[in-house]
Amino acid sequence: MNIYIHPNEESLASAAAAMIAGIVMEKPDAVLGLATGSTPAPVYRELARMAHRGIVSFAQVRTYNLDEYVGLNPDHPQSYRRYMNEQLFDHIDIDPANTHVPSGFADAGMAAAYDEEIQAAGGIDLQLLGIGRNGHIGFNEPAGDFSRLTHIVDLTDSTRQANARFFDRLEDVPRQAVSMGIGTIMQARRILLIATGEDKASAVRDMLNGAITPRMPASVLSLHRHVTVMLDNDAARLLNH
Ligand code: F6R
Repeated sequence: MNIYIHPNEESLASAAAAMIAGIVMEKPDAVLGLATGSTPAPVYRELARMAHRGIVSFAQVRTYNLDEYVGLNPDHPQSYRRYMNEQLFDHIDIDPANTHVPSGFADAGMAAAYDEEIQAAGGIDLQLLGIGRNGHIGFNEPAGDFSRLTHIVDLTDSTRQANARFFDRLEDVPRQAVSMGIGTIMQARRILLIATGEDKASAVRDMLNGAITPRMPASVLSLHRHVTVMLDNDAARLLNH
C-alpha cells in the first residue's frame, strides 16, 4: 500500500486526477470504478479540465459506479446517476452508454447482474473510493462479515446523518442503497482511496493502524496488492507515522 499525504484538498485532487488520467492514457478503453460524495468532486473537476485541454480522452473508457440510493430515479437531484452526470460525465467526451450506475430499483438478481456486467467488461482497472466516517467503502457498512458482491444494504443512522447535508431533511435520506460488495471492490486491479478533512481522521487511523475486521470495512484494503491512499493533512492527523 502506498500512502501519500497532501498539504490540502487541491493538491490531492490534482494527484488523484493525474493517476486516473495516467491509467486512461496507458489503456484508452480502461474500466474505471467511480465513487460519489464530496471527496471526489474536485478530482472530477480536475479530470474535466484535463479533458478540455486535450490531455486525456475518455472516448473509449467504461465506468461502473459503486452505488446508488434505493428508490431514487436517475434524474432525482440527489441520485448518484445525476451526481455523476453533473460532476463528470457531462464535461468529458465519454459515451453515456459506457457509463453505469446501479439502478435504484434493482432487486437482488439485478444487483448480482451488475457484477457479471463488470466481469464481462474485463473487470475494473482502477477503483476510486472515498471512506465513510464509520469506515464504510461503497455503502458497505460495518458488519459481521465482509460482503461479497453487489447487494442491497441498509444504511446506518450515522451514514444517513452524514449524507443528510445533501437532502432537505434527514427523513428524505433513503434507508437503503445498492452497493458493490467488498468482494466486487477487491476484484479491481488497482484501488485509489481518497480522504480529506478532519471528520475522516479516526476512520483513516482505524483503517490503516487498526485490525482487519468487517467492523471497519476499509481495513480489508490492507489485503489488496495495489492500493494507493491519498490523504490531506487533516485526514492524516491521527496516523502513527
Ligand atoms: C460514494 C460512496 C461512499 C462515500 C463515502 C464518503 O459513492 O460509496 O462510500 O465515498 O460516504 O463520502 P464523502 O466523500 O461525501 O465524505
